[in-house]
Amino acid sequence: MANIGQDEDFEEAQKKALKIGASKVVIDDVREQFAKEYVWLAVQAGLLYESRYLLGTSLARPCISVGLIKCAKENKAKYISHGATGKGNDQVRFELSCYSLWPEVKIIAPWRLEEFTTRFQGRQDLLKYASENGIPVSVTPKAPWSMDANLMHISYESGILENPNNEAPQDLYLMTKDPKLAPQESVKLEIRFQNGFPISVHTGDVTYDNPLDILMFLNKVGGEHGVGRIDIVENRFIGLKSRGVYETPGGFILHIAHQDIEQFCLDKEIYRVKQTLRDRLSDFVYNGFWFSPEGQYVRSCIGLAEESVTGSVKLEIYRGNVFVLGRSSQVSLYNEDLVSMDKHSDFSPNDATGFINIHALRLKEFNRFQNQRKNM
Ligand code: ARG
Ligand code: SIN
Repeated sequence: MANIGQDEDFEEAQKKALKIGASKVVIDDVREQFAKEYVWLAVQAGLLYESRYLLGTSLARPCISVGLIKCAKENKAKYISHGATGKGNDQVRFELSCYSLWPEVKIIAPWRLEEFTTRFQGRQDLLKYASENGIPVSVTPKAPWSMDANLMHISYESGILENPNNEAPQDLYLMTKDPKLAPQESVKLEIRFQNGFPISVHTGDVTYDNPLDILMFLNKVGGEHGVGRIDIVENRFIGLKSRGVYETPGGFILHIAHQDIEQFCLDKEIYRVKQTLRDRLSDFVYNGFWFSPEGQYVRSCIGLAEESVTGSVKLEIYRGNVFVLGRSSQVSLYNEDLVSMDKHSDFSPNDATGFINIHALRLKEFNRFQNQRKNM
């Protein structure tokens, strides 16, 4: 079992596993790796699936897989098993990650075994089986949906959320307060980036400067102020549409801050190429191809671009919003003299006349032609 930042009673989980027949329980704390090696790369790349989802679950799967393989090898196990259903993304992510890390490994996915599918229709049958057989499960009628939690987010799917028009109940959210009930007073922060990675967060007289502390602190502030909730329908890799509710408080703040410092620092055309790569990488990560030649290639391209993304962003957090107040950088391409409306510098406004004339040429010709056709 991985401790990847979910709020879980690990002792209870261990007891339960032993009670239902496990011979040994290993609980691996992978929070630091998750923050440093996965979430930080996602922030640097600006990953966003289908323009909205910050990929909290997708990023956790390869990290958990690393721990699974390590544990399997240490314990001389030949098989790895997981509890993902046969309809989702997680089965693909776990299995593709495991096969990449250890090509010889064998995987058992109970949800897809025939003896299972003929006996159980789905979650309801499983819950019934569990209660008949003394297996404690945390899905009570009070929380009739499926959750996946880690240091970066909580996702909620299925159950009463399967009807995409059913509003998520207010008591569903565990990481964030309802923005309407968030404090009247805003909070101001300053986040510093180096090579596109967050390196410190400063507020009042406190500074956090390692990934785990930064993320936990931003989750706390973002959570109190109701930041980072979304309710979306997304396209799963296997082709189904699914409805998901997510809360990603710290990740959302980092995303907004990084977006700002990046646009401030990056060359215009590199920025455009990078956006395309970002979208491709978001798909690779969502689809389970974290450990893939294309993933590695695109990550290193993005890393190269981000070498010039260094500086600080000032933010204000208030009732579900993250406002950017200002930014500064020693390496930004922003040139105050050049853009100033009060100075000429070495750029002559007359040059703009020619620039516009050349661009207007095509537009004028196109419209002349259109008018001619209308009169024909
Ligand atoms: N739809 C999200 C994703 O594919 C969340 C999946 C949640 N997984 C879960 N086991 N509840 O990344
Ligand atoms: C599951 O099917 O196990 C959860 C949802 C998903 O993987 O997409």
